[in-house]
Amino acid sequence: MTTKKVKIYPSMLSANPQKFAEELALIEKAGADGIHWDIMDGNFVPAITFGASVVAAHRELTSLPFEVHLMVENPERHLKNFADAGADTIIIHAEACKHLHRNLEDIKKLGKKAGVALNPATGIDCIEFCADLLSVVLVMTVNPGASGQKFIDSQLAKIKKLRETLPDSIEICIDGGINPETLQKCVLKGTDSAVSGAYIFKNSNYREAIDKLKSSADL
Ligand code: DX5
Ligand code: ZN
Repeated sequence: MTTKKVKIYPSMLSANPQKFAEELALIEKAGADGIHWDIMDGNFVPAITFGASVVAAHRELTSLPFEVHLMVENPERHLKNFADAGADTIIIHAEACKHLHRNLEDIKKLGKKAGVALNPATGIDCIEFCADLLSVVLVMTVNPGASGQKFIDSQLAKIKKLRETLPDSIEICIDGGINPETLQKCVLKGTDSAVSGAYIFKNSNYREAIDKLKSSADL
């Protein structure tokens, strides 16, 4: 039994790139709790998406919080750019950081919330001694790099372990392959929020999609 309301962050990776501004307006009206920007560098992951200027160009169009998910090598080179672009939360991959603790401190020094993303094969040990710097842990429920992939069930045990280990003040968010069924399984293990790309944007009615996600999480 849970009374907590799970937050839904649509990923702009699945929005129509010809009309991000309109998509943002629609998604805000549809009840999104924040916007997830997937930044890929063609190195940490094969694909390239967009940079800080695209995020900045949309900052004034919505009051929703912006969460920037950096799927990039050497993320420390990009923190200031995305902070200046209007990110509220900056999430870096544990696997991409030589100095994870320092990089998280740097995000906080920029006045932003700091998050760590964990690939499916990555354990939770790497965050034990930097949890005090974290606002969010992003559990990758697919391997990063593309939308529309299949949810990886083994990540449910990771979510459970994190929820047992972390204080409630640290948000556990899931990313990849989320639909009402997979979200419900994650909520039962203790997730607080979910990123959703294909499930929302492939639906012609965004409000209906977000409502379905939220009601599946309302246990
Ligand atoms: C995957 C990205 C996700 C992705 C989720 O590399 O980090 O944010 O867009 O998309 P869906 O919900 O389609 O799996
Ligand atoms: Zn993402």
